[in-house]
Amino acid sequence: MWKLKRTHTCGELRVQHVGQNVILNGWVESRRNFGNLIFVDLRDRYGKTQVLFSPDRAQELVALADALKNEWVIAVKGVVRRRDTETVNPKIVTGEIEVDAIELEVLNEAKTPPFPISEHLAVSEETRLQYRYLDLRRPSMQRNLITRHKVLHAIRTSMDRQNFVEIETPYLVKFTPGGARNFLVPSRHFPGRFFALAESPQIFKQLSMVAGYDRYYQIARCFRDEDLRADRQLEFTQLDMEMSFVQRDDVMDAIEQVCVDIWKAVLGLEVPRPFARLSYADAMREYGTDKPDLRFEMKIWDVTGEVAESGFKVFAEAAKAGVVRGLTASGAAFSRKDTDVLETFVKGIGAKGLISLKVEEGGKLSGGVAKFLGEREAGAIRVKSGAKAGDTVFMIADEEEKAASVLGALRNHLAARLDRIPKEQFRFCWVVDFPMFEKTDEGIAARHHPFTSPKDEHLEMLEKEPLKVQAKAYDLVLNGFEIGGGSIRIHRRDIQQRIFRLLGLTDEYLRDRFGFLLEAFEYGAPPHGGIALGIDRLSMLILGLDNIRDVITFPKTQRTTDLMMGSPGTVTEKQLKELHVRVVEDAEGGRAELPSVR
Ligand code: AMO
Ligand code: AMP
Repeated sequence: MWKLKRTHTCGELRVQHVGQNVILNGWVESRRNFGNLIFVDLRDRYGKTQVLFSPDRAQELVALADALKNEWVIAVKGVVRRRDTETVNPKIVTGEIEVDAIELEVLNEAKTPPFPISEHLAVSEETRLQYRYLDLRRPSMQRNLITRHKVLHAIRTSMDRQNFVEIETPYLVKFTPGGARNFLVPSRHFPGRFFALAESPQIFKQLSMVAGYDRYYQIARCFRDEDLRADRQLEFTQLDMEMSFVQRDDVMDAIEQVCVDIWKAVLGLEVPRPFARLSYADAMREYGTDKPDLRFEMKIWDVTGEVAESGFKVFAEAAKAGVVRGLTASGAAFSRKDTDVLETFVKGIGAKGLISLKVEEGGKLSGGVAKFLGEREAGAIRVKSGAKAGDTVFMIADEEEKAASVLGALRNHLAARLDRIPKEQFRFCWVVDFPMFEKTDEGIAARHHPFTSPKDEHLEMLEKEPLKVQAKAYDLVLNGFEIGGGSIRIHRRDIQQRIFRLLGLTDEYLRDRFGFLLEAFEYGAPPHGGIALGIDRLSMLILGLDNIRDVITFPKTQRTTDLMMGSPGTVTEKQLKELHVRVVEDAEGGRAELPSVR
């Protein structure tokens, strides 16, 4: 058995401990030899302490210290000494002291790690993910996960204070259509039948309202078989909540309170309330997206009406069936090469082109197409854009949705390029009044989910003009990321059934998939609504990071693999047989290449 159990952590000792005998346990971060004086930086989760092995000590001790290598796990007994003024290290909290070692015990040796466990590491993310446990040993990753813990802790405290009850719901559920693509789990007992992994606890939390719990919450894992991006994972965590006898504002209030409590607990920051509110239509028109980044202005403007009669064909054509809109880059000059790069960028996201005009002294517009613009159009552009001499305006002529999405992306791109984003700011906003449905190739689909209530005053239009119907839905946006979404729900069977029918579900299919829910609504469902916050995204943003994987302990890669375990992995024929599953080779005649299993 090992014997030197720690008396203190590596982040604990200060001048007040000088003269005390202490024992530290931890990892060797570095060893430095100065003649026969050996220094070791010992690290644990709490910090780093310098340990000194002096040549006056026993020879075996010095020899053992000399053999230490990085990442060995050791225990050191010694006396706390004050460092000389010139050797004080103000960068670490234990920098005023060091431990003069008397005894050393090696608890475990370590192979040379594939990358140094220090910051500023130039190592690929693949290698970091393959050796995730070493990556997680780095102080910055420990800070990330500990911050995430603080977020979760603040959530639980806030929800408890607001009288919410934490209720767990199943992950193995029945497949229901309409949401994200589900993961399926074959049943061993029922050949040909499958569980689905819950994409969210949506139906269960609504049933807990029927059951009278009034205020439900859960820190729930959700499973969605999606293509991954920098802010998406196959499994992610939600703060999921639901409330009874509420209107939209009650849910928004409760979640604003949670956010305020999180920021206060984690960063000590007071987030101002109420959060800004924007309608979906305004967000799309002014920011070109339903998740606007409000840390900078640069709103989109519109001159469709003013250029309808333009001699410049691109404008006149677009104005007939679409829009002509623009953005102003104030105080920024762009070379021909710069604007070519921007044009390539917007064409990459579906634009037909990009018009850039520079405002000269005296207000004259210059640049490629300026010569085609009459005085009336040029004047309108100057007024609407608010551009002054030295500014550049960028314009897109296209159908409305395309123009909005291109300008929305260009707005973010330009702000980042021109360094106009205040990195330390947190700008929350609500986006409300979403359309209830969206067009798909097959017909219409629910924009949020099919349990979302249409606005009462739009119920009449439901079957006639579904695309005009607005929903009682709301999204919470932070710094350009959607961190939450929710709605007031349908609590009446007849309306829920109308929505399902509109979505093209037959009565028979409905009974099979949602019968239990529709039935539940007949036993006294209270009016209710809720929301879910994405904890991974929120944690990423509160830490000022831009990759969701940096706040997830063992994330999947963009290709949906786990490089450490080598998953997804194979299983035996026997296992498949037990599950009544047969694997069919894909069209190319082979199985997709698997991640390497080490
Ligand atoms: P929704 O699907 O909008 O709503 O999800 C809520 C929030 O979860 C986060 N999120 C994700 N985070 C990481 N990876 C993903 N793949 C991912 N997908 C979503 C987002 C999002 O805003 N049941 C409803 C909520 C409700 O109506 O109450 C729901 O799941 O931050
Ligand atoms: P063209 O007449 O196609 O040579 O285009 C003249 C300029 O207008 C080029 O700079 C194009 O990038 C730009 N342009 C063409 N179509 C559009 C459009 N729909 N929106 C914005 N700019 C466009």
